[in-house]
Amino acid sequence: MSSEFELRQTDDGLALVWLTEPKLQPLRIDFHQGKSAYRALHTSLKSEAIAKALGVTGKRKPSVIDATAGLARDAMVLAGFGCQVQLIERHPSVRALLADGLLRAQQQTDSIAEAARRMTLLAATHINQVEGGIADVVYLDPMYPKTGKRKAQVKKDMQMFQQLVGSDEDADELLQPALDVARYRVVVKRPASAPFLAGIEPNQQLSSKKHRFDIYINQGFES
Ligand SMILES: C[S@@+](CC[C@H](N)C(=O)[O-])C[C@H]1O[C@@H](n2cnc3c(N)ncnc32)[C@H](O)[C@@H]1O
Repeated sequence: MSSEFELRQTDDGLALVWLTEPKLQPLRIDFHQGKSAYRALHTSLKSEAIAKALGVTGKRKPSVIDATAGLARDAMVLAGFGCQVQLIERHPSVRALLADGLLRAQQQTDSIAEAARRMTLLAATHINQVEGGIADVVYLDPMYPKTGKRKAQVKKDMQMFQQLVGSDEDADELLQPALDVARYRVVVKRPASAPFLAGIEPNQQLSSKKHRFDIYINQGFES
């Protein structure tokens, strides 16, 4: 970990402190607090473009590998809809925060805990270490190099996260192994104006307010 950051065990769980920005709140993963909890409790299949992109319906709950798990906000939404979600994250500090956040959430007894119990953090640190065909869908949301405009809009906690993990310059290398692993489809979340991952055109696209979901289809879902 860069010497700018330090992981600390606190009464509220593991926290990442940005030493050069002492006024910023330490970063923790708490699925029961804030936006993550609100989204998990109040969202609907119709209002989440991510659910549509991955092919989640009332009856169909595809198994998912989230191969760029980050803070697992998207993964939590998918688990909330009933999908089993396996998480891959390569940054050691983010992995540590995730493991801690998952464990704390899974120990509760409410519906968020139930969703958290559908999530598993894999030992793999890249999708290319995963056996083919073990999930219906692979989801990718690598960091996109930030532009000046985007940087100004980024919230404080996200600034810290971006400073920690950087901009995933090797993101193009995720697509082919993801296609080798997914039974049905690979879904890539991109900023609306970003080029296609690895320059490869998707079979379908779905746009939401802030993002675009590029959908690469290996085969259609069985009905
Ligand atoms: C934009 S964040 C993902 C945010 C996530 N979708 C969420 O909802 O919280 C991207 C994450 O992917 C991780 N990552 C990037 N490339 C990766 C790779 N090749 N293998 C595993 N993790 C990767 C980064 O470390 C970072 O934590």
